[in-house]
Amino acid sequence: MSDIHYNKEKGSKLKLFTPGPVFVPERILNEMAIPNDTHRSKPYEEMHALAKEGLQKVLYTKNKCLIFTSSATGIMEACVRNLVKKDEKALVLSIGAFGDRWYQICVENGKKAVKEGVELGKAITPEFLEKVLSKNNYSVIFIQSNETSTGVYNPLDDIVPILKDSGALVCVDATSSMAGVKVEVDKLGIDVCLASVQKCFALPPGLAVCSISEEAIEKTSQVKERGYYFDFLTLLKKNEVNQTPNTPPIPQIRGLVAQLDHILNHEGLEKRFQRHLQLGKRTRMWARDANLEMFPEKGYESNTVSTIKNTFNIDCAELVLMMLKKGFRIVNGYGSLMDKTFRIGHMGEITLKDLTEMLNALTDVISGLRLKQLK
Ligand SMILES: Cc1ncc(COP(=O)(O)O)c(C=O)c1O
Repeated sequence: MSDIHYNKEKGSKLKLFTPGPVFVPERILNEMAIPNDTHRSKPYEEMHALAKEGLQKVLYTKNKCLIFTSSATGIMEACVRNLVKKDEKALVLSIGAFGDRWYQICVENGKKAVKEGVELGKAITPEFLEKVLSKNNYSVIFIQSNETSTGVYNPLDDIVPILKDSGALVCVDATSSMAGVKVEVDKLGIDVCLASVQKCFALPPGLAVCSISEEAIEKTSQVKERGYYFDFLTLLKKNEVNQTPNTPPIPQIRGLVAQLDHILNHEGLEKRFQRHLQLGKRTRMWARDANLEMFPEKGYESNTVSTIKNTFNIDCAELVLMMLKKGFRIVNGYGSLMDKTFRIGHMGEITLKDLTEMLNALTDVISGLRLKQLK
């Protein structure tokens, strides 16, 4: 069991099949260990510029890209504070725990917001939007691309154009899909597309990134009481000269630049998206062969995290523990789905070979737990 505890000398030897934080390759850890100049130096500015350029390519956008010293939730809150005026109404399209979080952030910041959602496991569809958008005029709409709790991927290509047609600004939380699934920001007209980097980017946690449209920047200038640390205008002003207003985690930005280079120039974006698609398909095939059902409605399954129904009613905590003993970390369900589902993260640098090795171990563990049930 010692390997599953904090190990001062060796660190964790677990193979992470989690929906973040995920395994970070050694080349990134080595890159991050390289000494840097301060954040008010030319070398830092050059690095910051490379990060911005790389992010624009990953997001298929000419919009400005920002770096935040926070996790994704920080940018979710920044969107609420910077883009929603006091007398306006925002719409949160929630399909699970992270959509609910965005609504909670609106409430905690004293913004008027309406939450509309569908049954857990389902996605937002154009038909659903027809009903929802006819009720009210919304100034800003918040939505997840990939809902990490239910493992549902919203059909952004179909729904974002409809949201934009309503005249609202559209913010997409792509935390568990950015750099793993193609999101074409400019083509769809997404105003803010955000993520933290400990998921599909396969970097250590502590950094988040987003793109921001000119329309969103213009709107920000009309909104009062945007807060201090996450004021988009302050961040944008410094971003213009390739800096951040406050001290950023410089080694992590170095890691981000190295990983963007890997994604864009070594693996290649299309190949990376294709690999994630194969990982999703392989996991769904395994579930089918194991007589397990996927939690998401067919056709909306995520290719970065699979949420699988606990069809055999096994003890999910024990399942996770047994997998830990075999050297793999998978996770139980999230929130209200804690025991009803378990989740397999297949994002970042995971290969089909890695996934197959883990799924073989999982088959054995589930068989063992089912045998135990019969005793
Ligand atoms: C879809 C989604 N949004 C937001 C978050 C919050 O991210 P962070 O922990 O980086 O703030 C998560 C974390 O799992 C997520 O999956």
